[in-house]
Amino acid sequence: MFGTRITEMLGIKYPIVGGTMMHITTARFTAAISNAGGLGILASAIYKSREEFAEALDQLNDLTDQPFAVNLNLFPMMRPIDNNDYLDVLLDKGVRIVETSGHSAPEDLCARFKETGLTWIHKCVGVRYALKVQGLGADIITVVGYENGGATGKLDIGTLVLVPRVVESVRVPVIGGGGVSDGRGFLALLSLGAEGVIMGTRLLATREAPIHESLKKAFVEAGEQDTLLVMRSIGATHRVWANSAARKIAELEKEQAGLPEILNMATGEKAKQMYDHGDLDLGMISCGQGVGMCHDIPTVKELFDRIVGEAGDIAKRLARNS
Ligand SMILES: Cc1cc2nc3c(=O)[nH]c(=O)nc-3n(C[C@H](O)[C@H](O)[C@H](O)COP(=O)(O)O)c2cc1C
Repeated sequence: MFGTRITEMLGIKYPIVGGTMMHITTARFTAAISNAGGLGILASAIYKSREEFAEALDQLNDLTDQPFAVNLNLFPMMRPIDNNDYLDVLLDKGVRIVETSGHSAPEDLCARFKETGLTWIHKCVGVRYALKVQGLGADIITVVGYENGGATGKLDIGTLVLVPRVVESVRVPVIGGGGVSDGRGFLALLSLGAEGVIMGTRLLATREAPIHESLKKAFVEAGEQDTLLVMRSIGATHRVWANSAARKIAELEKEQAGLPEILNMATGEKAKQMYDHGDLDLGMISCGQGVGMCHDIPTVKELFDRIVGEAGDIAKRLARNS
């Protein structure tokens, strides 16, 4: 049930993608997502050298025989080594699927994606970006709406409108996301024409997520209003969990503070410390509005099975009632 062009092209059981999450989609967590029937995506920027990255891919290949992808980060400041080096390593390790994300298309990399026969997924937040990367040869386009955790861009289009607009504008299959936390959202996005869904926030509250239990508990307790948008003033809008650090960043932006002051609060190193040690307020953590629908901490497999089961039940109920 729920087979689509995405499940066929990627060779996965369920049309569910676990979104790239810096410091979180490590080899182990990526494998957990792929082993649960979805597509895990390793965040290559976690690894600071070719050797560390190669080791992570070896570990991933040992932990799963299911398909997975690797995200190549397009922001030079955020990745320790050049993407061409990451590409050499991932090709050497037999990776077949790459993901990129952002509003600037990776024009320097896409020729290599094509030459090497990689399946290329690009994630963006608007029709115009989707059309651009389709023109460059993207095989699959992921779009995430305004509700989503992490980078939201500047267009502010909600998932309910963005997904069908992109689906009707491109010919390649579309993965939709932003706010998907359960079977209702999953089925809704397939109804909108997406052939797969992407989830980030919901996966934070799973048993295997490599983050501290106190954060998982906080996400289960959080509601849909517990996120806010920050860093718009520096052209890097992110939806994040509304803890005291995020509120402080929002204040700094109101006071027109300088880039260094804002980045000092927003650094990923602080998020990493929170994941490791459970501090709830040290820094900023990406988080979508779907956090309001995280009510428990299942394994990834329990979550995916439940989502697909729930979607199947809803589809049957609707068919009976029509
Ligand atoms: C904690 C966290 C970290 C994220 N880090 C990244 C990242 O490094 N790169 C990226 O492209 N997207 C990142 N994202 C976005 C996700 O990959 C995904 O697109 C998004 O979470 C989907 O929306 P949802 O959170 O509403 O499910 C992150 C999201 C979260 C929640």
